[in-house]
Amino acid sequence: MMRLALVGYGKMGRVIESLAAEYEAEVVLRLDEFNNANGAGMTPEAFAGVDAAIEFTAPDAVLGNLGRLAELGIPTVCGTTGWYNELPAVAEQFRSRGGRLVYAPNFSIGVNLFERIVSEAAALFAAYAEYGAWAWEMHHDQKKDAPSGTLKSLVETMRKSGYNLPVDVSSSRAGKVPGTHVIGFDSAADTIELRHVARNREGFARGALHAARWLLKHEGVHAFSDVLFGDADVRAGKRGSNA
Ligand SMILES: NC(=O)c1ccc[n+]([C@@H]2O[C@H](COP(=O)([O-])OP(=O)(O)OC[C@H]3O[C@@H](n4cnc5c(N)ncnc54)[C@H](OP(=O)(O)O)[C@@H]3O)[C@@H](O)[C@H]2O)c1
Repeated sequence: MMRLALVGYGKMGRVIESLAAEYEAEVVLRLDEFNNANGAGMTPEAFAGVDAAIEFTAPDAVLGNLGRLAELGIPTVCGTTGWYNELPAVAEQFRSRGGRLVYAPNFSIGVNLFERIVSEAAALFAAYAEYGAWAWEMHHDQKKDAPSGTLKSLVETMRKSGYNLPVDVSSSRAGKVPGTHVIGFDSAADTIELRHVARNREGFARGALHAARWLLKHEGVHAFSDVLFGDADVRAGKRGSNA
């Protein structure tokens, strides 16, 4: 059994716990805002015997948590978004200690395959300036960062695919939507929309658990796409920080 710590025991933490047994994992530590204010719960004693941590908290907590997990030498899967400007520094914190980290703005396997499709579409539309492009996402009204890390990654992937025309980027926050992402191209003649709609959080939780198992056998700092596809096409510049 993989012994897991959940850093963040909100909506995602709870779904991960409910699915852990399917991944031969057992949750042995749960840290939330009450027992981990300012990282107070992240001690060597608390993490003794922990094989991996899965971090889903909030943009204002994630950097402190990741720094502490790097210090403790705990292989970490991080799903919190809104911190990627600090990715180089965080990656260095893990790498300099020989640590292990998998991060992704979106751990859904469907979204990661969707990003591949967007990459192909962007390469095809790059030559046709009569099509205007847009990127839009919608999430529940509790999501704190906008645009979503997934949308930023999709647009980055379009750029890496050679799409240099403008892309209008926008977000909506309302209701309970778990996550919808749309990439569209529109001309006087027609509209093409690529749409991914998440039904619930299960896809994210399964991807994070899959990544935690993978991390037991892989060193270094990785985007989730390394877990799914290997890292050859990152080096080839084919995709963004997500897929
Ligand atoms: N990568 C992906 O696939 C993916 C999928 C879904 C969500 N997300 C992201 O993951 C994050 C969490 O999502 P969620 O839906 O689970 O949100 P959530 O229900 O708000 O859960 C986050 C939990 O972390 C707690 N927390 C805050 N500071 C903490 C700290 N220092 N240590 C431990 N726990 C702390 C929060 O407490 P308080 O409520 O008191 O702040 C809350 O209980 C968000 O950034 C979201 O955008 C990513």
